[in-house]
Amino acid sequence: MNEDQRLQGQQVKEKNPADKKSEKDYSKYFETVFLPPSLKEAKKRGKEEVKYHNDFKIDEQFRGMGDGKKFYIRTYGCQMNEHDTEVMAGIFMALGYEATDTVEDANVILLNTCAIRENAENKVFGELGHLKHLKQQRPDLLLGVCGCMSQEESVVNKILKTYNQVDMIFGTHNIHRLPHILSDAYMSKEMVIEVWSKEGDVVENLPKVRRGNIKAWVNIMYGCDKFCTYCIVPYTRGKERSRRPEEIIQEVRHLAAQGYQEITLLGQNVNAYGKDFDDLDYGLGELMDEIRKIDIPRVRFTTSHPRDFDDHLIEVLAKKGNLMDHIHLPVQSGSTDVLKIMARKYTREQFLELVRKIKAAIPDVALTTDIIVGYPNETEEQFEETISLYREVGFEAAYTFIYSPREGTPAAKMTDNVPMKVKKERLQRLNAVVNELSAEAMKQYDGQIVPVLVEGESKNNPDVLAGYTNKSKLVNFKGPKTAIGKIVHVKITETKTWSLNGEMIEEQQLAEVK
Ligand code: SAH
Ligand code: SF4
Ligand code: F3S
Repeated sequence: MNEDQRLQGQQVKEKNPADKKSEKDYSKYFETVFLPPSLKEAKKRGKEEVKYHNDFKIDEQFRGMGDGKKFYIRTYGCQMNEHDTEVMAGIFMALGYEATDTVEDANVILLNTCAIRENAENKVFGELGHLKHLKQQRPDLLLGVCGCMSQEESVVNKILKTYNQVDMIFGTHNIHRLPHILSDAYMSKEMVIEVWSKEGDVVENLPKVRRGNIKAWVNIMYGCDKFCTYCIVPYTRGKERSRRPEEIIQEVRHLAAQGYQEITLLGQNVNAYGKDFDDLDYGLGELMDEIRKIDIPRVRFTTSHPRDFDDHLIEVLAKKGNLMDHIHLPVQSGSTDVLKIMARKYTREQFLELVRKIKAAIPDVALTTDIIVGYPNETEEQFEETISLYREVGFEAAYTFIYSPREGTPAAKMTDNVPMKVKKERLQRLNAVVNELSAEAMKQYDGQIVPVLVEGESKNNPDVLAGYTNKSKLVNFKGPKTAIGKIVHVKITETKTWSLNGEMIEEQQLAEVK
């Protein structure tokens, strides 16, 4: 931790700020803690050196802190948050806590939050409301808010004013400080807030308790410097910082040795991997080329930004092997004008050219995407361009969203002449096309035998197993429980819009079919 962070991260303990003499005094108090989202400030991000640490350990004073106690973490948002939850679970276990999956049993409850859209935030405020009665029944319960929402000044102020059932708030850059934060929260009767405005260094040896032993997340970088005009992530996650390749490769080797079947390399913009190294000319292509040699059956990565998707990476992905032929490539809009206002830094034509190159190198690749509809002042024609691009690319699936203004981002300041009714209607029209193309892509599988990594019982029916194909299609099929955790062959007998049904083919039968 450098001096700057220590300053910004100083703890503020104030249970009920409304008791303070005036709002003004109180907000002053917070200026040292937060830098509200500011594009101008954030763009000043320099090439400050990122320090790598390998010396995380649980301080003697905290050992046994969790003996006889249980923790519960509810995770919202993206894979980055899911993985952070695994790290926090690791820290809890190292402190002696046990995991529980019911809030009623928990002595500590954490909400690991997401700030990407307004409804993501509303869910968290709703949940805080629900948890209030638990806190009233059991005042010794610790309730914490962490994750991306904690990095927003407005959110912290709202919690301070309205949700005094919360005992601690900490941000995305200091989860390794969890033991200290917990200890402070136990000792103090006041709300403990520790949020660093500036990103932390990279801490390598944090403990992790992974969810499951089949698939694993592996962070390759943190933060985002793209500053798409609508997006809060560059502010909540800080500047781009890549992990050193040797650390990543070691982690993947370790997961392979433990028998994991699939890893997903994680970052907000994985194609920018390595751009922050001063001493190394090493990018995602080089990293994937190393990882493909490791004996782990499936390797994926997310999320790609089209702008930095280079030829070398395409070349490496074309070598296939354990590199899966599914690429999630968020396009956001099919209109060059909207892309420009979004600051995505590519045109419709450049995106189509990238898709052409990818398809030329990997002819049967499955492409999926993210799309925002109803951007400020989006015209009907511009929206139609998104639909036509979707069809032209032949995306097989998409996450689609109505634009949600995020305080402090440049887009939030734009005037917007598109009524919500129109936005909703556009979303429906887009989703109809998304469903249509997904169903079409699924139809191709009818009668085929596909490898499926079996993850467990189907959510709706414990007699049915569920897993995913190389191209991330969900398959439900009857099979023995011993298949869980393995890659088995399934003959597809029925195709639906979002999933496939089939029958497992025993190895012996498979040999006969072949
Ligand atoms: N780093 C990833 C995206 C992470 S956020 C990328 O650039 O691809 C996941 C998706 O949420 C984005 O792709 C975008 O489609 C959507 N999103 C982000 N900010 C949004 C906002 N303010 N309103 C609506 N959707 C948004
Ligand atoms: Fe947000 Fe992704 Fe753009 Fe980064 S690249 S600003 S995370 S949408
Ligand atoms: Fe949400 Fe933060 Fe991920 S805002 S999408 S949890 S990086």
